[in-house]
Amino acid sequence: MAFPSNFLWGSATAAAQNEGAYNEGGRGLTNLDFMTLGSRGQKRKITEEFVEGETYPSMKGSDFYHRYKEDIKEFSQMGLKAFRMSISWTRIYPNGDDEIPNEEGLKFYDDVFDELHKYGIEPIVTMDHFDVPMGLKKYGYWASRKVVGFFEKYASTILERYKGKVKYWLTFNEINCMSTQPWVAGGIDSNDEQLRMTAAYHQFLASALAVKKAHEIDAENKVGMMYCGHFTYANTCNPDDVLHTMDFNHQMMFYIDVQCRGKYPAYKLKQFEREGIVLPAVEGDDVILKEGTVDFISFSYYLTHVTGEKTNGITKGLNGLQTGYTNPYLQLSQWGWAIDPKGLRYALNYLYDTYQKPLMIVENGLGALDFVSEDGKIHDDARIDYLRAHIEQMKMAVEIDGVEVLGYTTWAALDLPSLSTGEISKRYGFLYVDADNYGNGSYNRIRKDSFYWYKKVCESNGEEL
Ligand code: BG6
Repeated sequence: MAFPSNFLWGSATAAAQNEGAYNEGGRGLTNLDFMTLGSRGQKRKITEEFVEGETYPSMKGSDFYHRYKEDIKEFSQMGLKAFRMSISWTRIYPNGDDEIPNEEGLKFYDDVFDELHKYGIEPIVTMDHFDVPMGLKKYGYWASRKVVGFFEKYASTILERYKGKVKYWLTFNEINCMSTQPWVAGGIDSNDEQLRMTAAYHQFLASALAVKKAHEIDAENKVGMMYCGHFTYANTCNPDDVLHTMDFNHQMMFYIDVQCRGKYPAYKLKQFEREGIVLPAVEGDDVILKEGTVDFISFSYYLTHVTGEKTNGITKGLNGLQTGYTNPYLQLSQWGWAIDPKGLRYALNYLYDTYQKPLMIVENGLGALDFVSEDGKIHDDARIDYLRAHIEQMKMAVEIDGVEVLGYTTWAALDLPSLSTGEISKRYGFLYVDADNYGNGSYNRIRKDSFYWYKKVCESNGEEL
């Protein structure tokens, strides 16, 4: 068998996209709540308050908050061994800076974890999946060092409370999105590089403190970082294209370096020097970063890029997926993402060789339109083909290249509003959610064909694809 018997076959979600119930259970408001519905051609707007006539997809999410029991039962029927989810910071500390935590929020996750364990499903928990309490506005969100302390308190609260129930933790989802989508990652609605690098610095510290705490509280805890899978090919073998590609990689991958090696790489420090960017470091920070390196690297993988001379501004607030090139060898998804299973094998090898830490693929999937057929079923063959091809490549990385992979959680267990566009019609799930982009529908779940296919994959430990 290619995969070890404890391989974590699973699927993933995130609180702000999945839970809904945005104003129930004492939950406070969070940055994603204020993002309107967009589309492939139209960016989501960020509004200061809720504007009448606009749709805010996070309000309802996929209604997991009310349906978690039936959903988890479905996950168990699907054979999931692991479920990746996030805790909503504002369910625990509604404003981010509260004195005491909200018991109703803590209890909700206790119930969710208990339900998962009832079926032998291992939770993999992201502490912060694009979830910035609006109550931290007065500080400037992650631009403020104060927020490091608030996060440390939040992390300690959940680590203490769920000791023994959660073993696998991820600190910040796709932390490198601070360079491409700073509002989403840190409540920074600005292209100012100094601001973004300040916010990223604070998240590095917060992550390191959380890792240290996690290890102190329970030696069994395994804590990972989470990288948004930006992997790229040089457009040509022209050395100029290759150097631009190196630069692109540097802008993204330094986030991994800091969290795995506990310090900024030389190229980044030189760049800061050239651009006059000053890190808000105080004495002792270097020790915090060093002591708080992660146990493993997790990452999302949907697509690959092509980069070269035309690529610039990737870190300057442009759409993180625009590099100026398309790959003629790859097909695009309905939302224009370049499908590249072999690139996953390459990415796994690259990360393992470079950082020599165990890896976990915590998001991989196909966002596509799905339809309920006349027979009442959802025949999502394209999704099955996509996942099969990626799992085959992961298998080769494990079996042939010897890469250590701890688990694989697809995006997503059930349909949920897309992060980039807010559309639930960009469906990723094994479970179809009966809702449209505007929140109309019963929200009932229907098993797709991929549900039954993935069940075989999980139950055969990846042998039956
Ligand atoms: C990742 C995020 O970037 O990709 C998820 O961690 C997101 O939150 C997923 O939903 C898929 O992207 P999208 O934009 O299609 O929802």
